[in-house]
Amino acid sequence: MNFTRADFPDGFRFGVATSAYQIEGHQFGGAGPTHWDSFAATPGNVVRFEDGARACDHYHRLDEDLDLIQGLGADVYRFSTSWARVMPEGTGAVNGEGLDFYDRLVDGLLERGVSPALTLYHWELPQALADRGGWRNADMPHWFAEYTEVVARRLGDRLWSLAPINEPWCVGWLSHFDGHHAPGLRDIRATARAMHHVLLSHGRAIQVCKGLGMQNLGAVCNFEWATAASDAPEDMAATARYDAIYNRFFLGGLFKGEYPAEVLEGLAPYLPAGWQDDFATIQSPLDWLGVNFYTRKRIAHRADAPWPAYQERPPQGPLTDMGWEIYPDALHQFLTRAAREYTGDLPIYVTENGMASATTPDPDRIAYLDEHLRAVQAAVADGAPVAGYFVWSLMDNYEWALGYEKRFGLVHVDFETLARTPKASYHALADWWRS
Ligand code: FCB
Repeated sequence: MNFTRADFPDGFRFGVATSAYQIEGHQFGGAGPTHWDSFAATPGNVVRFEDGARACDHYHRLDEDLDLIQGLGADVYRFSTSWARVMPEGTGAVNGEGLDFYDRLVDGLLERGVSPALTLYHWELPQALADRGGWRNADMPHWFAEYTEVVARRLGDRLWSLAPINEPWCVGWLSHFDGHHAPGLRDIRATARAMHHVLLSHGRAIQVCKGLGMQNLGAVCNFEWATAASDAPEDMAATARYDAIYNRFFLGGLFKGEYPAEVLEGLAPYLPAGWQDDFATIQSPLDWLGVNFYTRKRIAHRADAPWPAYQERPPQGPLTDMGWEIYPDALHQFLTRAAREYTGDLPIYVTENGMASATTPDPDRIAYLDEHLRAVQAAVADGAPVAGYFVWSLMDNYEWALGYEKRFGLVHVDFETLARTPKASYHALADWWRS
């Protein structure tokens, strides 16, 4: 990688990201059960039935891991608090040991000169709330506001930034329509409710944080570029539906106070009553947008199915270990599109980008990061106000339904011994981030 910090705008921040359930070891420290534990224990959902009970044992190796972040020269560390670790039943009683852990994490970052960027929800819903319908339940925004306030009161004075929810598309669509993530539903009514409640919960959390005087609040969405498999009008329309569900539903809700017509075609009958009145909350003003970006999809019409009537075509060209196509120009396109159509001058951070590769050393990961950083530069040159770039992930971890075999880390983790070993990509980034 031949970059220097001077190749990016003044004040541009580099960082790395992780999430609680993927690294901490959820059996430790009094955390309550989550819907990911029960999803993983159900045969057929997760490779080898693996779960996050031990993960990287970050809970007991906090200082060693914080030293790795410092050694990388990262400006920002994006991490999440686990709702079930903080409030094992989801509401009510607080697990003091859990909050103390995050307190040490935040102080440990600040002592090392790294800015803490907190995400409040990265998918491990307390089981007690899942039992009450989870994201389908209209009480979710109240429960989430309660949890937000507990964490914000304890950590809010020392955070650099806060985002309520990681990737609302995954929380809503992937988990309730595709059934690939917990709670593993395939139900259009559950999907509609989850998609709306996740945005409303986001808005409530922003209001709570503002009420406590916090600043630098944002939203982290995952976006996928959709390309039509052909010029046929039905393939173009199917691609527009895919784009609407994946991308425009969330950007539209957050920044325009509207849902795209292509989504309402399918979901309107199932949305909760009065959903149109919730946009004032959903649109609570933000200080930045976070873009998680990995790949693009080629989409075709599917004639034999009801809405959304699309199908993914096989990926082309070089793929990562996830089978995801490597297509950096889509990141360039997305950043410029988000700014042009939705966010204007608001800073945009690439809050996740990286690749799964089991290779060590990992020149493929270095090349992937290099190409995507060039895409960021191209977006900046086009006028998009990109202000930072965070790599997914600091270390190999629990990759959800794909278990421990998909390795996204800059640091290799031996899941037998839990030894951490920085990869070539770690050293390549450290060479210029530390300069
Ligand atoms: C994102 C998730 C993150 C990780 C990466 C590969 O969608 O936010 O937890 O799984 O994908």
